[in-house]
Amino acid sequence: MDNNIRHTWLDTLEHLPEALHCDFITRLAASCGITFPGGASVKREMDGYFNSLLRNDTNKPIVYIGMGTCGLAAGAGDTYSAVKEYIESKHIAADVIPVGCIGLCCAEPLMDVQLPGKTRVSFRNAIGKKAAALLASMLDDGKVPRADVLGQFSHTQSMLWEDIPLLAEHPFFSPQKRVVLSNCGIINPLSISEYIARGGYAALLKAIHKNTPDDICSIMTASGLRGRGGGGFPTGKKWRAALDRNSPVKYFVCNADEGDPGAFMDRALCESDPHRLLEGLAVGAYATGAQTAYIYIRAEYPLAIRHLTKAIGEMRAFGFLGDNIWDSGFNLDIVIKKGAGAFVCGEETSLINSIEGKRGMPRPRPPYPPEKGLHERPTVINNVETLANISSIVVMGADWFTSFGTKESPGTKVFALSGKVVRTGLVEVSIGTSMRDIVYAIGGGIPDNKRCKAVQIGGPSGGCVPEHLFNIEIDYHTLPEVGAMMGSGGLVVMDEDNCMVDVARFFMDFITRESCGKCIPCREGTKRILSILNSIIRPRKSEQDTDALSRFRDVLDLVPLAGVIKATSLCGLGQSAPNPVLSTIRWFREEYEAHVFERTCPAGVCTDLLTYSIDPDTCIGCTACLVKCPENAIMGRKGTPHYIVPDKCSGCGTCRDICRKGAVVVR
Ligand SMILES: Cc1cc2nc3c(=O)[nH]c(=O)nc-3n(C[C@H](O)[C@H](O)[C@H](O)COP(=O)(O)O)c2cc1C
Repeated sequence: MDNNIRHTWLDTLEHLPEALHCDFITRLAASCGITFPGGASVKREMDGYFNSLLRNDTNKPIVYIGMGTCGLAAGAGDTYSAVKEYIESKHIAADVIPVGCIGLCCAEPLMDVQLPGKTRVSFRNAIGKKAAALLASMLDDGKVPRADVLGQFSHTQSMLWEDIPLLAEHPFFSPQKRVVLSNCGIINPLSISEYIARGGYAALLKAIHKNTPDDICSIMTASGLRGRGGGGFPTGKKWRAALDRNSPVKYFVCNADEGDPGAFMDRALCESDPHRLLEGLAVGAYATGAQTAYIYIRAEYPLAIRHLTKAIGEMRAFGFLGDNIWDSGFNLDIVIKKGAGAFVCGEETSLINSIEGKRGMPRPRPPYPPEKGLHERPTVINNVETLANISSIVVMGADWFTSFGTKESPGTKVFALSGKVVRTGLVEVSIGTSMRDIVYAIGGGIPDNKRCKAVQIGGPSGGCVPEHLFNIEIDYHTLPEVGAMMGSGGLVVMDEDNCMVDVARFFMDFITRESCGKCIPCREGTKRILSILNSIIRPRKSEQDTDALSRFRDVLDLVPLAGVIKATSLCGLGQSAPNPVLSTIRWFREEYEAHVFERTCPAGVCTDLLTYSIDPDTCIGCTACLVKCPENAIMGRKGTPHYIVPDKCSGCGTCRDICRKGAVVVR
């Protein structure tokens, strides 16, 4: 692999004029803190720098700490301080390198240790002082403490540790195909030279020196890349539409809004490998004729913004931004635009309004942004993950990209795996991988031997795929057939304890809050659906007169109303808002029926429908529940079984939580 990277780079340099070779190597050398001797063979020098930057071997210990948002939330800041304190107090000459997220978020904080001559070993749960102790035992005994080992990397130039499994063979990683995430958690995201040593910016240099914009659009079309932001629109077609517009000013926008609940792929990419995104953005701008590019990113992503800002500065210092980039005649500037974090601002026309300083509300389409977008100029908007694919496609070619994934949807997709699954995190698989493989092989299945009920895929625009359909190949065509969609890649696993009516209610509640209010079907219709769902979980005791009748009438309205909202809303938010309701009704109708007819919640989630009682054979009359009940609904004497008065019980669950004997029965 490393040799491939070198060849790619040397091949790219070969197409540059001699003076640019030297310029490039001088900048690379400077980034390593070395002065390029000049005159020496560029190839030989480049090899040397790449070797040190790839860290296949090292002459001093290196500690890598996962310091993405997930790592920091798990305590990576303390890990970093403890490791620093340890090596300083012991006067050890070691490097401590912050890296991003490798994907296994459930095992954070993650720490890797690489000793001279040996391969890098990865540890999970490296919390604070434990990390320092772990490092001490490696340095003192030259042995790898086994308890929290995840696995070792394999480098060609250093020795493998005996009896330590390879990280690549870990069940979480082995079924994955990592293209977009290939550097995440491995390189220092704040170092452009580390990115370059792994083949970075070869695509941009190749594009601007060897290819016309038309060539690049054709490569994208041949690759079959589809937008990863949700809609799956062919990227080549979008780029060509903008290229073909005759306009002196065009814009390119990276959509890093990521508003879907359950999605964190784009944030992790911006934090862990910002240059991959920036390079894709620059190639896109070149291919479409844009000279100004924006990254629209929510202000709630401060670490991602910091890393992108630093990376843009490095890009400029390396000459990849500005006027006449690397003597190619191509000019580009990249601007970060912070959004206030509204879901609708991810919709492309709302996003354009937001960048223009207007309210984030959608515009009717057509005209589509490539025809008339930002400031009425042709504008391409692409998602972070879409752009993160570009450099690999330019360097490796369209045929390489179509060699994996499905015929209709080549390439990989990154999913944010969360919910009731053993291994949560970021997963990148070839499109067409089955849901079963993602949940069971990669995710490790459901905790506590519970039964898997469904996976919610695609955020509010998506739907729930029930467990009996897990063998379908996930791609842009198959998911809509089962009432879901790829969306941006949030994948939330649900087990037998999840109530599907409650899941639908959660998404409807989200949508009603996030609807911008511009069009009536979305503004009023989604509120109506939410109120119907609320009536479904309303207990009989809070009903009066004809409430029950109107409740039935509303339930009958649910599906037709959803159809009207889908058909008549102005933008994708309203057009997809009813999807979670429709897909849960389609696949979990019996749960709706239990709520509507029997007024029970089979999963025991909808508290208003639950009834609490005490099993007299199990209750020992300890009075703990009686004392704590906030409604004084529990009767009984010490030493005798207690009793819950149904009319007084509010269903808060305090008695169940407090009973050490498990005597409280909930139905
Ligand atoms: C309500 C709504 C929210 C959206 N949010 C995002 C988002 O956060 N990120 C994103 O890339 N696309 C989002 N999209 C899709 C974008 O409108 C657009 O299709 C996408 O950015 C195009 O990039 P792509 O072709 O690379 O996928 C959203 C769409 C809708 C309707």
